[in-house]
Amino acid sequence: MHTRIKELENQFNSELAEVTNLKSLEELRIKYLGRKGSITALFDEFKELPKEEKPKYGQVLNRLKNSTQNSFNEKKNLLSEKEKSEKDFIDLSLPGIKTKLGTNHILTQTLDQMKSIFKVLGFSVYEGPELESDYYNFEALNFPDDHPARDMQDTFFVNKDFLLRTHTSPVQIRLMQNKKPPLRAIMPGKVFRNEAISAKSYCLFHQLEGLVVDTDVTFAELKATVIHFVKEFFGEDIKYRFRPSFFPFTEPSAEVDIWWQPTGKEGRWLEIMGCGMVDPNVLENCGIDSEKYAGYAFGMGVERTAMRKYGIDDIRIYFDNDKRFLVQF
Ligand code: PHE
Repeated sequence: MHTRIKELENQFNSELAEVTNLKSLEELRIKYLGRKGSITALFDEFKELPKEEKPKYGQVLNRLKNSTQNSFNEKKNLLSEKEKSEKDFIDLSLPGIKTKLGTNHILTQTLDQMKSIFKVLGFSVYEGPELESDYYNFEALNFPDDHPARDMQDTFFVNKDFLLRTHTSPVQIRLMQNKKPPLRAIMPGKVFRNEAISAKSYCLFHQLEGLVVDTDVTFAELKATVIHFVKEFFGEDIKYRFRPSFFPFTEPSAEVDIWWQPTGKEGRWLEIMGCGMVDPNVLENCGIDSEKYAGYAFGMGVERTAMRKYGIDDIRIYFDNDKRFLVQF
């Protein structure tokens, strides 16, 4: 029996050394120390021994039971520590969770692009108020008293004298009143029109106005500036044309069209901006000597221009705040 006890102890110790996790440790415990375990079985045999042999083996058996139990406990503590620290382990080399950054609204992006195109040509940015007087929005710009644009249909009047500006051209007047020529500025901003809301028109939109006043300003320079812009914004291959038009504050006046070719549909000309030589009356209204100075001006709708560039077919979508639209830009 002595040799069996020794063998069993060695066997237990070598198997214990192989154990690497709590689960197999528990299996080992059951195999040796469980109710049907091989060490427990020795105790059953011990009961059957003749009385005089009992003291001798009892001691040895108890020592075996204690030492295996101790080794088991030690290993159990070790493995529990190990598994706990594995569970709490933080892998600092794992990539972090990315937060999605928002982007600028497509209108802001478009305005930024327009500004940077004109900045290269030496234009600075000038801004004016959205609430204007009849004088700045119409009168100083040479609109006759009975001009249809003054009609309640188009203009949001706040009272008899004040209104929400219907275009950015009043900022031209403010610039000419506040600064001396030479002038070279663009004037971006919101404008408001009391029109029926549809895919094509909205009560609020943005315009970008341009004004140059100097001693030797020509229509040729206006054309070159506009063509440069159109090509930079839409690409070198864009088809464009200048068409004679009328505005009370420019003479001569023109409108600029670009060729719009939607896939699978018939192409057509679409107006993107108005322009012309500043009417001498307007210069004089601002205290600028029209014998000495000349000017040109242009103005375009930002939403419309971006619609042409990106193939957007409904102006209202800019203001819906629908993420499915916004994330595309
Ligand atoms: N203000 C005009 C409009 O709103 C556009 C324009 C600007 C025309 C400057 C000529 C010169 O339609």
